Amino acid sequence: MKSLIIILLAMLGLVSCQPASNEAAALRNQFTDLQTRQAALENKQYIPHLGWAMVQVQVYHAKLYFAGAAQNWKLADYYVHELEEALEDVEQLHPEHEGVKVAELVKAMALPEVENVAKAVEQQDAVAFSAAFEKLTHSCNQCHQAAGKAIIRIKIPQNAGLPNQDFIPPRQE
Ligand code: HEC
Repeated sequence: MKSLIIILLAMLGLVSCQPASNEAAALRNQFTDLQTRQAALENKQYIPHLGWAMVQVQVYHAKLYFAGAAQNWKLADYYVHELEEALEDVEQLHPEHEGVKVAELVKAMALPEVENVAKAVEQQDAVAFSAAFEKLTHSCNQCHQAAGKAIIRIKIPQNAGLPNQDFIPPRQE
């Protein structure tokens, strides 16, 4: 009886040894795959063109306006940061574009105006928001002129919001 158990255990041992080494090989392969994929991702990083990065800026500019105009200050605070980040992306991804010093211009022209809008949002001041937003919009166009892209004219959004997003503050606030 005892020897039967020993034989059974030995067989189990043998049987379980085999999948263990197969598993190790599979894990090693998976790891190699992951490393290859990681390397591929690093080499083929998607970098949006300046024009596309600007569309992101444009969308946040509009959303910030709609949130502020609805005096939805929490949402405006959210979008003021998104706009800032979108402009920082522009700076970092395209510090220079067709001989234009984009990063310097964004820092000098747009970011201080975004800061002013942020202050108005923080103070929940609708009048200050409206004035600061106008100046910010003007700075977009000043830079477009400086960059030889005067054809791109930004204005205060005139329609009410985007058709698929609610900008009105929720009732419980
Ligand atoms: C460096 C200064 C600079 C600032 C500041 C700036 N832009 Fe631009 N923007 C550019 C340049 C340069 C282009 C043209 C990019 C190209 O040649 O593809 C552009 C293009 C655009 C476009 C056209 C994108 C398209 O393909 O339709 C829009 C929209 C735009 N900007 C919106 C804005 C808004 C909104 C602001 C302000 C919040 C702003 N930009 C601030 C430099 C600037």
